[in-house]
Amino acid sequence: MDLKGAHVVLLGGTSGIGFATAAAAAGRGADVTVVSSNPASVERALSTLPDGARGQAVDLSDPARIRALFDELGELDHLVYTAGEPLALIPIADLDVDRARAFFGLRYFSALAAVRAAAPHIREGGSITLTTGTASQRPGPGWAVAASICGAVEALTRTLAVELAPIRVNAVQPGFVRSPLWAGMSDDDRERMFREMGASLPAGRVGEVEEVAEGYLSLITQPFATGTILTLDGGALVA
Ligand SMILES: NC(=O)c1ccc[n+]([C@@H]2O[C@H](COP(=O)([O-])OP(=O)(O)OC[C@H]3O[C@@H](n4cnc5c(N)ncnc54)[C@H](OP(=O)(O)O)[C@@H]3O)[C@@H](O)[C@H]2O)c1
Repeated sequence: MDLKGAHVVLLGGTSGIGFATAAAAAGRGADVTVVSSNPASVERALSTLPDGARGQAVDLSDPARIRALFDELGELDHLVYTAGEPLALIPIADLDVDRARAFFGLRYFSALAAVRAAAPHIREGGSITLTTGTASQRPGPGWAVAASICGAVEALTRTLAVELAPIRVNAVQPGFVRSPLWAGMSDDDRERMFREMGASLPAGRVGEVEEVAEGYLSLITQPFATGTILTLDGGALVA
């Protein structure tokens, strides 16, 4: 499906999976707006996206700023939510509950706030696509909080698909993807992790952001997709 003239708003759209999705949507004719907290990230994204792309620096951890953003943006067709800060993997014995609660902030509560603020502005035929991860189904030690966030986002997706219909609501569930999310690791550790993770997968490698972006576009453009959690993990869940 062509996205010509459709307004696609991508929260977290300045980097990694969100940026690749913005570029792919713009490539199909969409008018894209990318949003993230760091003005330099927004500028960098806009310098690469086609002319006409718009961007805003907004810290999405503040629900009042999310409401103001959608009041200012006006009508849109598709909302994509990929904002997330690097996650720490913490064994239960070391887990501070306040820190665990804080991790839910951006990935879950801000996604919820964004849906609430955006939904009244979404045009007929529009959609919302959230982001989860395979940790909900294939967690490892230390993944209690990350896996719980993924489970919560998936339950939220299914509920919103029912409650907000006819707006379609879906989520992409990526496995390991080579993106700036892992930039906090040393180059050696990161490449070793990608190599070892990749070797354990049926696909033989970790994913690329452009591959996952095609998943978001397929959900945005598939008029029969709602309540769908689309797994793109190189086979991690069946290995
Ligand atoms: N990469 C993977 O292997 C993988 C696997 C499974 C799931 N995921 C999930 O996919 C999503 C996207 O990940 P990614 O790999 O694309 O990460 P990424 O490249 O680090 O992108 C994250 C985006 O979130 C924005 N962001 C962070 N804090 C923000 C805030 N307070 N307000 C607004 N924007 C904020 C960042 O921009 P600013 O810094 O400018 O704010 C950036 O645009 C995340 O939820 C991640 O957990 C990723």
